[in-house]
Amino acid sequence: MARSYDEIPHIGTLPEDYQTRIGPYLASMYEKHGPIFRATTLFGDEVVYLVGPEANRFVLSSERLKFSHHQGWGQAFGVINMLGNGLLTMDGAEHDQHRRMMNPAFAVSYMDKYLPIMNRVIRERAAKWLAKKEVDIYQEARKITFDVAAEALAGLKIGPDVDRFRDIYVQMLMLGMVAMSEQDYADNLERLKGELYALLAPKIQERREHPTDDVLGMLVRARDDQGRALSDEQLIAHTNILLVAGHETSTSLSAWLLYLLSQNPAYERRVLDEQAALLSPDAEPTLDAIKQMKVLDNALSEAERLYPPVANGPRGVVEDFEFNGYHVPAGVFVFYSIAATHLLPSVFANPAHFDPDRFAPPREEDKKTPYSLVGFGGGPRICIGINFAQVEIKALASYSLRHYRLEPVPNQEIVQFYRGTGMPLNGITMRVTKRERMTV
Ligand code: HEM
Repeated sequence: MARSYDEIPHIGTLPEDYQTRIGPYLASMYEKHGPIFRATTLFGDEVVYLVGPEANRFVLSSERLKFSHHQGWGQAFGVINMLGNGLLTMDGAEHDQHRRMMNPAFAVSYMDKYLPIMNRVIRERAAKWLAKKEVDIYQEARKITFDVAAEALAGLKIGPDVDRFRDIYVQMLMLGMVAMSEQDYADNLERLKGELYALLAPKIQERREHPTDDVLGMLVRARDDQGRALSDEQLIAHTNILLVAGHETSTSLSAWLLYLLSQNPAYERRVLDEQAALLSPDAEPTLDAIKQMKVLDNALSEAERLYPPVANGPRGVVEDFEFNGYHVPAGVFVFYSIAATHLLPSVFANPAHFDPDRFAPPREEDKKTPYSLVGFGGGPRICIGINFAQVEIKALASYSLRHYRLEPVPNQEIVQFYRGTGMPLNGITMRVTKRERMTV
C-alpha cells in the first residue's frame, strides 16, 4: 500500500541562493531523503521533486502521459503568456502532430544545410574578437547562436532586423528581474509582444506568398489532419519558441564549454591535437569532421553535465501516480531534476570534478545508467534541437580554439545563475590572443 502524499519528505522552503546552486542543493537533498521530496518555493508554492535516473525515466518515458508540459512550462513557468503556445508547451495529440511537422527539419541529414550558415556566422562574428582584445564570451555566443537560429530556422536576413528580434527576446527574458511591479511587468510584456508581432507577421505573409525552405516556411506550408493551415498566432508561437529555445540554451552551454576548457589546459591540449588531426588551421569543419571530434564531444557532454542550461523540467500532474512507494495526486506540480541527477555520485564518479573521459569507453558512465545525462531531456519529447545545438557548439568551439587562445581575465566572479537558463551571471570575459600554432 503506497504511503500518502503528506508522508513525502518535506525539505522546507528553498534557500535564498537556490538559483545559484540548484544542482548541488537538490543532489544533497536526494542523498538525505531519496528520489522524491517536497519543498516550498520562495513564492510560497509547494512542489515535488523527482530526482535521479529512475525518476527521469518515469517522467520522460514510462509514465510520461501523466505529466503535462502545458501546465508546467506553459502555465506555471509563464511561457505561453510570453511566447504563445508552441511545441514546448503543447500536450498529447496536438503536440505529436506539430512535432511530426517539424521533425524533418531537425534530422541529422538536415544539418548539412545548417552547417554552412553556422560556419559563416561564427567566422564573421569571431573575426572581430582579436581587435577587441577582450570579449564577454557569453554575449558573443548569444550573437552567434541567435543569428544562426534566425537565419537557419526562420529564414530571416541577418542584420538590424535580427538584432532587434534578439533585443526583444532578451528584454522579455529579463523582465522578471527588472520590472518594478506586476503591472509594470504586464505592460512591458504586452509592448514587447506587440513589437514582435509587428515584426513577425509580415515575414509570415511573405512566406505564404513565396514559400521558403526554412522551418518557418515549412510550417507555413504544413496542413493538419483536417487539411487546415496553422494560424498566424500558432506560427508566431512556434517561431518564438524555436528562436528562444534555439539560442538561449546553446549560448549558455557554449560559454561554459569554452570556460571549462580554458580552466583545464591538459584536456584542452588533447582537444587541439584532435582538431589538428582532423582539420587544417583555416579549414571550416565539415559535418563528417564534427562527428569525429570525440575528445571535444566528451568535453561538451561534461559541460552539459556540470552546467546544464535547463536545471529542472517542470510538469503539471494530470493523473495520479505512485513513485518510490508514495502516492502523488493529479493537480500537483513536479520537477524532474536535470541538474541534480548530473551530480549523483552513484552515477558519476567524483561528480564535482571535470573529467570528460567518464564518457569515453570503457567507462561510459552515462550509458551504464540510462536517463542519467539528460541536459536535453529524454524520451519521445527529447529536445528537438539536440543535433542542431551539438553541431553548432562544436563548430563554434572548433573555430575559436583553432584561431584564438582564450583566457578568462583575472578577478572576475564567475557564477552560474538560473534565470531561464543557467547563464554565467556576470558573463565570462576572456582575453583573446591569436593562436599562432596549435599550442595550448
Ligand atoms: C544546448 C542547447 C540546448 C539544450 C541544453 C536544450 C534543452 C532542452 C530540454 C532539457 C528540453 C526538454 C524539456 C523538458 O523535458 O521539459 C528541450 C526541449 C525543446 N527544445 Fe531544446 N535545448 C537546446 C537547444 C535547442 C535548440 C537549438 C532548439 C531549436 C532549434 C531547441 C528547441 C526545443 C524545443 C522546441 C523543445 C520542446 C520539444 C518538445 O516538447 O517536443 N532546443 N530542450
